[in-house]
Amino acid sequence: MPAPNIDTIVSLAKRRGFVFPSSEVYGGLGSAWDYGPLGVELCNNVKQAWWRWLVYERDDIEGIDSSIILNRLVWKYSGHEATFNDWLIDCRKCKGRFRADKIVDNKCPSCGASDWTEARPFNTMLQTKLGAVADDDPTAVAYLRPETAQGIFINFLNVQTTMRRKLPFGIAQVGKSFRNEVTPGNFILRTREFEQMEMEYFVSPTAEHSKLVDYWVEQYLEWFGSLGVNRENLFLYEVPGEELAHYSKRTVDIMYRYFPEREKPWEELMGIAWRTDFDLGTHSKNKLDAEGKRLNPDSTEDLSYFDEAAKQRFYPHVIEPAAGVNRTVLAVLMDAYSEKTNDKGETRVILKLSPQLAPIKAAILPLAKNKPEIVGMAKAIKRSLQPVLRAVYDDTGGIGKLYARQDEIGTPFCITVDHQSLEDEAVTVRDRDTWEQERIKVSDLADHLQKRLKPFPVPESI
Ligand code: GAP
Repeated sequence: MPAPNIDTIVSLAKRRGFVFPSSEVYGGLGSAWDYGPLGVELCNNVKQAWWRWLVYERDDIEGIDSSIILNRLVWKYSGHEATFNDWLIDCRKCKGRFRADKIVDNKCPSCGASDWTEARPFNTMLQTKLGAVADDDPTAVAYLRPETAQGIFINFLNVQTTMRRKLPFGIAQVGKSFRNEVTPGNFILRTREFEQMEMEYFVSPTAEHSKLVDYWVEQYLEWFGSLGVNRENLFLYEVPGEELAHYSKRTVDIMYRYFPEREKPWEELMGIAWRTDFDLGTHSKNKLDAEGKRLNPDSTEDLSYFDEAAKQRFYPHVIEPAAGVNRTVLAVLMDAYSEKTNDKGETRVILKLSPQLAPIKAAILPLAKNKPEIVGMAKAIKRSLQPVLRAVYDDTGGIGKLYARQDEIGTPFCITVDHQSLEDEAVTVRDRDTWEQERIKVSDLADHLQKRLKPFPVPESI
């Protein structure tokens, strides 16, 4: 049973330290969120799982980390300055301002009127100024990147030559992006500051691009499955021609059921686009237009590729899977949410996170916190596990409360140390999902957890 709605996750996230509304001490900041002690671990685990899967486990992908602020010309030639717009309309009756494409049945979502101004473009790149310059100095304008992708394109040759890569190969990057969204909202689903995990896969102009889009869609469906996202809550949306971005010839969006309670439950989790050779061509000094004029007189590099086998020079095409960290985290939380009734008839929340994503893998709980020997043993076990898996020690409540808290934050194992442990050097390991308990020797504990935490990889050496 996934979460019935996003609000259930909002309240769990705040109650248990995953996500807090940002700037609360000053009344908040609309649609900005801070990730708490457990949220930062969950985000890091998602990003690490992605990086491991693409950069370490495959042999055809390199990673980079480019600047967030790039030369303004990057955004001129990428097309973002001219086209990265939302179309705005104002309601003449209540003066509300909305995105034209989000209006249903021509009715104002605030007051129900249908009296609109003309639609006008609003560029959603977030501007800043570089250096100590006058407010109106146009040469100081810069942007916080709206996608991580451009940092990859402008580094294509650097990566290709230094890593001696031949096509096909990919470059992955994870990091913050910024968009001055007109209507942010729905918790961490649409915010002005967010994180992306993008990979640009460079292929020959004669590759089977559409098949490669399908290939990456399948790869990501599998990957989301490995994170615990149920296939039934994912839906493929073939983006129609009129909705495609200026660089795309084909895009498939993977949608997640973020709104199970609504008639329209789906929202984009990620997109997989065939970006053609637009990006490498547009940033290249030698690319010519139909009249033989240089398309980019500002570029000092040519991002073309020489194919030794075919003895041909060309601009590689790109297949781009672009996913959001925050939307992945939200989907993972919603699908992990479940409820269970205990012997006393009380309903408990259990967050059935995939072990690789759980913020804490094991909680060490002493059964008697006033017994120094038991506390000492529990703390020693915590310290012995910590080098290889995230473990915590907790003695801030009765055992029932401690179990409930760990279940609610998705900790796969609770380990209790009791009087008997002092005698037999063994502890009780309780499973989050079944609540079953077994007695394990302390000397076997690390091995035991290591096996059961798979696919979370733990080095053999412990
Ligand atoms: N480079 C292509 C690109 O940026 P996109 O569909 O605009 O494509 C990719 O963004 C992903 O980034 C989305 O599928 C979504 O997961 C995430 N994303 C985009 N805008 C976002 C926002 N305002 N808040 C949270 N995540 C966002």
